[in-house]
Amino acid sequence: MNTKQKKIQMNQMDKKAIQEAAQILRQGGLVAFPTETVYGLGANALDEFASSKIYEAKGRPSDNPLIVHIAELEALNKIVKVVPDNAKKLAEVFWPGPLTMIFEKKEIVPLGTTGGLNTVAVRMPNHALALSLIKEAGGYIAAPSANTSGRPSPTKASHVAMDLVGKIDMILDGGAVSIGIESTIIDVTANPPMILRPGFVTKAMMEAVIGEVSIDPTILGDKELKERPKAPGMKYKHYAPKGDLTIIEGEEEQVIVKINCLAKEMSDKQCKVGIIATDETINRYDVGQVISIGKRSDEQTISHNLYRVLREFDEKNVDVIYSESFRSEKMGMAIMNRLLKAAGHKVIYV
Ligand code: TXA
Ligand code: MG
Repeated sequence: MNTKQKKIQMNQMDKKAIQEAAQILRQGGLVAFPTETVYGLGANALDEFASSKIYEAKGRPSDNPLIVHIAELEALNKIVKVVPDNAKKLAEVFWPGPLTMIFEKKEIVPLGTTGGLNTVAVRMPNHALALSLIKEAGGYIAAPSANTSGRPSPTKASHVAMDLVGKIDMILDGGAVSIGIESTIIDVTANPPMILRPGFVTKAMMEAVIGEVSIDPTILGDKELKERPKAPGMKYKHYAPKGDLTIIEGEEEQVIVKINCLAKEMSDKQCKVGIIATDETINRYDVGQVISIGKRSDEQTISHNLYRVLREFDEKNVDVIYSESFRSEKMGMAIMNRLLKAAGHKVIYV
């Protein structure tokens, strides 16, 4: 398949390219497009056959449901049975934005889109190009992250191209995304509502709007998961870089010593070593390819850079990667959740 690639200037959006992409979607094709979180791989959410193509292109397990993207609040009523009060309040504050909510679905949403579940995940992205594409395409685009299953989510169009050229109809290139990790997912059918995937919108931010919010306890498990996560996609070893990634956790000085020691040991064995450092520590490492993920105090920059850095190590063909740890109250939860999964939960405590 020939994959068209169109660059869109965000300040003078190319109506024709968006119409062409929307036409492909209406005819059941696949179009990758930017959102504020990561690039999505879109198909008409109400067309079961179109959604099924997403699974094929990504190599995605069929029990892993897709998120339906909408552009207007009114669009919600056609696809969900009830909009709980909590959901209305959250939508008012966080939509359009990096928050996905789980609702009971109506018949019109095919089970092929929801991985066989009677619930549906819905999000209104905060991205002008995405919103206008959704409207032009009929209002409902199912879109997982536009990567091959198991690879880091794409934060630039070139990442999408690397994984999916030849397998999809079109890529709309709207430049680098702003947030860099996927949306927060909250199940608003639960009481209290439950976070199934941490993201930019934190527990505290939502609690300020609706009161108590719970968290799926499997989210931050350091060990291999025993309990099943409630979002089916969270059970897979995701975002895996090609190099074998290990997180080193502990007091900063000891982490640096340990990483240097491991890096030397592996490089003596002729292994190519990568190190994920921060601006504060980058000069403290003397072996291997060292990349800073940003300033430790700036969580937004760290989340923005995470997947890009993992992909960079793939390009450098490193055999092993050692990373500092990024636990913290706010975005740190989302960052660590992704990093732990990329590492297959391998953590060395020092
Ligand atoms: O930021 C994002 O959410 C991006 C952009 C493109 O919008 N999309 C994204 O989609 O991250 P994806 O497919 O990579 O992740 C969707 C997650 C999966 O973990 C899936 O299991 C969960 O959402 N999910 C979808 N529908 C669900 C449902 N009905 N119940 C529970 N979890 C659901
Ligand atoms: Mg994904």
